[in-house]
Amino acid sequence: MRDFFQTVQARQSVRAYQSKPVTAEQLEAILSAANRAPSAGNLQAYGIVIVRDAATIRQLARACFNQDFIAAAPVVLVFCADPARSAAKYGPLGESLYSVQDATVATAYAELAAAALGLSACWVGAFVDKNIAALLRLRAGLRPIALLPIGWPAEQPPRMPRRALDDLAREHLPD
Ligand SMILES: Cc1cc2nc3c(=O)[nH]c(=O)nc-3n(C[C@H](O)[C@H](O)[C@H](O)COP(=O)(O)O)c2cc1C
Repeated sequence: MRDFFQTVQARQSVRAYQSKPVTAEQLEAILSAANRAPSAGNLQAYGIVIVRDAATIRQLARACFNQDFIAAAPVVLVFCADPARSAAKYGPLGESLYSVQDATVATAYAELAAAALGLSACWVGAFVDKNIAALLRLRAGLRPIALLPIGWPAEQPPRMPRRALDDLAREHLPD
């Protein structure tokens, strides 16, 4: 297994997958990593739908503006914010922001966990919310935030460039 910094460097969005399955142990490791993500007030105001049925995955791909590569993934995790769960403690901020952040950071943990296991994934944020909700029969109020198709890589895409650190971050100096 890769260590943390190797994992961060190795992770990249992969949009082609082998037919080889993701094992139950791998899936559990990925879900357990997501479960360790921080969340506002430790409320974990999100849910994850695990989709392994190939026909449903094809429909998910369609609901993501026909991003056909998703259909080849043996498993897709769908991270959904649970605004009401966070709103119960934090009001409007929990509803509109913290629940989305909770779901987002859990997605990031899951994506890194997949990379640590040598698997590949691609964060998918372009989809029609209501189509995903209908397809997965999401409980009213749950809001899909990200899809994560996961599988064994069938491509090695070029590494995407990043902004220079001094463009991204600046040190605040006191007056
Ligand atoms: C919020 C968000 C939404 C994204 N949506 C999509 C998407 O719908 N389809 C896709 O192929 N990639 C999507 N990506 C992946 C990005 O394109 C990718 O992370 C970025 O180009 C950097 O490449 P890398 O992940 O290989 O470093 C998304 C990533 C994020 C964080």
